[in-house]
Amino acid sequence: MKLSPSLLSADFGRLLDEALSVQAHVERFHWDVMDGHFVPNLTFGPPVVNALRNRLALPFDIHLMIDSPAVYAPQFDVRPQDTILFHIESDDAPERVLEAIARTSASAGITLRPGTSLQSIAPYLDHVSMVLVMSVEPGFGGQAFIPEALDRIRALRQLIGDRAIEISVDGGINAQTIRSVIEAGADIAVAGSAIFGASDRVAVIAELRKAAA
Ligand code: DX5
Ligand code: ZN
Repeated sequence: MKLSPSLLSADFGRLLDEALSVQAHVERFHWDVMDGHFVPNLTFGPPVVNALRNRLALPFDIHLMIDSPAVYAPQFDVRPQDTILFHIESDDAPERVLEAIARTSASAGITLRPGTSLQSIAPYLDHVSMVLVMSVEPGFGGQAFIPEALDRIRALRQLIGDRAIEISVDGGINAQTIRSVIEAGADIAVAGSAIFGASDRVAVIAELRKAAA
């Protein structure tokens, strides 16, 4: 299992220090980019993520909860191990977004809201290396895990077949829910409030790994 802490729940005044406080204990970093249109919340965009890119060693997963992802994806200074994830419900044609991400050094990933049909992403699976299953409605950290995500992970495993695609799960992941998502077939667990809401992040990360094992 890989852990990808979401910086959404970190102290934005100390973003670099917050990321560094967990970097030695996790596999990736998850950046929640929100535009106040696609979701009713605003966070950060390319200038902030790019400023941190060269200061951190781990791969970035950039979760675009925005409209016009084809316009903004190329503005991220990404590396080959990074992934840019876009929502199938965004207002750009998926083909255009995939073309835009292909012009960067990153891999493409796709994600969908809890209520969106899994079939909607099926035509694009040959062009992505990661699918992000949302286990909360996108927009805010600290929400409760939606249990229907477990059936969705299992169905997605079937749909993926033998393609080399990692399944990541995002929303409501904590020591109580992490085992179920790994058992259902997830490769990567995203956790925001569970990690950055705790004073001892390293202890929480160890607890998450123990709960998942
Ligand atoms: C929600 C974001 C998540 C969020 C998860 O829109 O996509 O990445 O940070 O937060 P927790 O782990 O607190 O549910
Ligand atoms: Zn996210």
